[in-house]
Amino acid sequence: MSATDLDAFKARLPLADIIGRYVPLRRQGRELVALCPFHREKTPSFTVVEDKGFYHCFGCGAHGNAIDFVMAMEGIGFREALERLQELTGIPAPQLRASRQSQEEAALWAVNAAARDWFRARLVGPEGERARQYLQARGVARASWERFELGYAPAARDGLRRALAARGWSETLLLRAGLLAQGEGGEPYDRFRDRLIFPIADRRGRVVGFGGRALGEARAKYLNSPETPLFRKGELLFNLHRAARPARSQGRLYVVEGFMDVIALSEAGLEAVVAPLGTAVSPPQLRLLWQLVDEPVLCFDGDGAGRRAAWRVALRALPLLQAGKTVRFLLLPEGEDPDSLVRGRGVEAFSDLARTTVPLVEFLFAMEAEAAAPTIPERRARLRQRLRQLLREIGDPELRRDYAASWRMRFAALVSTDEHTPIRSRRRNPPERFDAALRAAEREAALHLLRPLVRDPGLLAAHEEALAALELADPEGEALRQEILNWYAAGGSLDPRSLRDHLTAHGFAELVEEMVAGDRDAAEDSGGGFDLEEWRETLARLERLAAQRREARGIAEVWRHRDAEVSAPGQLAGSARLSASEGERSLEESSGDRGGRPGDERAPF
Ligand code: UTP
Ligand code: MN
Repeated sequence: MSATDLDAFKARLPLADIIGRYVPLRRQGRELVALCPFHREKTPSFTVVEDKGFYHCFGCGAHGNAIDFVMAMEGIGFREALERLQELTGIPAPQLRASRQSQEEAALWAVNAAARDWFRARLVGPEGERARQYLQARGVARASWERFELGYAPAARDGLRRALAARGWSETLLLRAGLLAQGEGGEPYDRFRDRLIFPIADRRGRVVGFGGRALGEARAKYLNSPETPLFRKGELLFNLHRAARPARSQGRLYVVEGFMDVIALSEAGLEAVVAPLGTAVSPPQLRLLWQLVDEPVLCFDGDGAGRRAAWRVALRALPLLQAGKTVRFLLLPEGEDPDSLVRGRGVEAFSDLARTTVPLVEFLFAMEAEAAAPTIPERRARLRQRLRQLLREIGDPELRRDYAASWRMRFAALVSTDEHTPIRSRRRNPPERFDAALRAAEREAALHLLRPLVRDPGLLAAHEEALAALELADPEGEALRQEILNWYAAGGSLDPRSLRDHLTAHGFAELVEEMVAGDRDAAEDSGGGFDLEEWRETLARLERLAAQRREARGIAEVWRHRDAEVSAPGQLAGSARLSASEGERSLEESSGDRGGRPGDERAPF
């Protein structure tokens, strides 16, 4: 309770009214006087100085403010006096409510901590035998029991209830904490029975609830604490208090679906991992994530349920996006979760996939494009419609414009390659369409990059490192890049003749021929000059394309198993909250943002 709150409350209290309820006051000059209620007297020496907010007895020395008076008269404590004053005067004591709340919170934290300790002791005790076997069978290391403070709730209906009651915890509090459940009119009983226990903490590491996993075939595989003043599922993330520091320092944070996934990744050395509590990631949870990193990576099982969950989060994120703040997606192979993946194939399998995370802008487009199967004009029109609906969800106008521009480009690439692809392969293997478009662009750029090198290997002196780090999608260009680097590494000469001979001898005769000829044409066109600035731009563009391609590989996972699930085009999008009927308005109308570059938005992709 803050001192200023208390002072403000005291200042509002009508002192004379309050005291007047207990003793008859008489006006005497500027003061109010009474027979002192604190000692026996015949003439009044008890004075109320209303404008100063205190009373004083010249007889016995009693002295104080309204709160002191009520405490003394009623023989009650400070807190109760505040309550009493609130009742008497109707003046709210907000700090009173807060302190009551914090009292209740403190009690809940304490009882949860007591329960956690009791569960932990059961796991290592005789009752914990099966739970220990279960953990071992799942490959959970002993160190993880400690780190995650795992416990075991025995099968009895009243184990925790009796143990905590014996330690002085009231049944009411245990019920309020959700540790006990109560059937209609029946006795309260332990909520968690015969379950492995995962304590769930708030940001500061205070236990606020539990998750319990059935060891056998229980009706519910996982059971969580019910909502309590402290346990608000949508505002908590499992492991957040441990993950926060590594997430901040590494600038990356993974969000996985389950407790066991967090534990498995943490055992594999990835500490910046959190999980929601069986619900889709909510806006408050997104904000928590963004307090730690700009681009949290959301991992989902590649199966239908996982992708639908990813989709829900993607939609929720759109209104909340801000400069810098977004989400990325990591879709795992179908039927795998991070736990099964790292335990089955090692942490490298996860880290490899983690290099192919898909940005939100790409994920949404891929999901929509696949759902729409835009092989004919009408479906393409519907795809545009849906994309416009999504754009309207984006809160930030600048981002909305940029999303529109990005989707227009992707749409164009999709359509231009789509027309020439046989329908079957289109349905079977959609990522190929992206790849084809990307590859055409890359081949052109690759030649643009390598041609001047063949002509003037001197460029290698300054750019060898960048070239070595590059990776070209075009197989011929890539082979040529490597051969040029081989040649340079072997001899270090910068003589064009020597390079051409080397390349010709290594099977690039035709390409070199073509390049030198093309070079001549280009030289004639442009008046002969080589533009180093432009060449550097090409290099940078290829680096970006390489990054894009890595993303596209991640996307392949999005598409991979879709056919089985998406029976009708648009089904997935239809299942989300966007309805097709609100579609037809133009992008410009819908964006509600007429500033900036209007021309950009008028073109429908
Ligand atoms: P999953 O069903 O994906 O389970 O639930 P899992 O994490 O792979 O669990 P294991 O590997 O079988 O032990 C993911 C998360 O969803 C919540 C839990 O938080 C779980 O960790 N969940 C799941 C529930 O709340 N209730 C359930 O019945 C199932
Ligand atoms: Mn699992």
